[in-house]
Amino acid sequence: LRIFSGSANVDLSQEVARYLGITLGPMVQKTFADGELYVQIQESIRGRDVYLIQPCCKPVNDHFMELLIMIDACRRASARQVTAVLPYYCYARADRKTAGRESIAAKLIANLVVKAGANRVLAMDLHSAQIQGYFDIPFDHVYGSPVLIRYLAEKAFPDLVVVSPDVGGVARARAFAKKLDDAPLAIIDKRRQAHNKAEVLNVIGDVRGKTVVLVDDMIDTAGTMHEASRLLRREGAERIYACATHAVLSDPACERLSDGSFEEVIVTNTIPVPESRRFSQLTVLSVADLIGEAI
Ligand code: R5P
Repeated sequence: LRIFSGSANVDLSQEVARYLGITLGPMVQKTFADGELYVQIQESIRGRDVYLIQPCCKPVNDHFMELLIMIDACRRASARQVTAVLPYYCYARADRKTAGRESIAAKLIANLVVKAGANRVLAMDLHSAQIQGYFDIPFDHVYGSPVLIRYLAEKAFPDLVVVSPDVGGVARARAFAKKLDDAPLAIIDKRRQAHNKAEVLNVIGDVRGKTVVLVDDMIDTAGTMHEASRLLRREGAERIYACATHAVLSDPACERLSDGSFEEVIVTNTIPVPESRRFSQLTVLSVADLIGEAI
């Protein structure tokens, strides 16, 4: 098998390749003056099983287009099988129509990946698991929870409560709670008034005097986590941890997360977090072994 990396997260791709005991395949990527992309695979992949690793994080559209061009290049080079490895699936939150005349962009992404020539997809912690059904090709949904849970379990928190910051994340939080010695679960009733603006209203469950771990699939602007932490503090939570697979960290996430509300913010490296965006409470765990194992 051969692994090639898009430009979005070369460090993660290298770690995956190292886990598998191989090196990344040679590939040239360029951006032309007008912004168009160029990709060339620099070895024969005829008849080979090819894995293309590209989390479609910011700049989302460029990274996604790069992935499509990589898939196309591999197909035209007669690869036997092309697997798109998406540690972060972009547009996953646009998974249904919530108002008239909207797009279901997550489905459009699926159509484009398949149309470009992928035979198989491997994605990590989809915002909604139903996205798997948007594909009629083999799809492996890998969970980042083993690395996050292992890390949290080592802390052996007394009086732990796992909190879902919204109703949509209850199944995820429940799975965490179960693996953390059947810790109790609390749920936050979050209402959104506008895109990227979370408004938190109520907490269902008892958090008074407890150590709480908020579990989500992603932290984008950190509005959800920040509002949740304020509410939990009001409800008497003693220590608050935030935990999520995808560190999207759009502004002003780093400010919000480092304002002293959280003991620690635990994320994974599905999306790269550059040094300039790191803060003292942030812990980044690697999911390379999980992806390597799934490959
Ligand atoms: C929403 O349903 C997601 O699971 C996350 O809670 C949300 O996307 C996080 O966004 P933000 O950090 O901007 O509140």
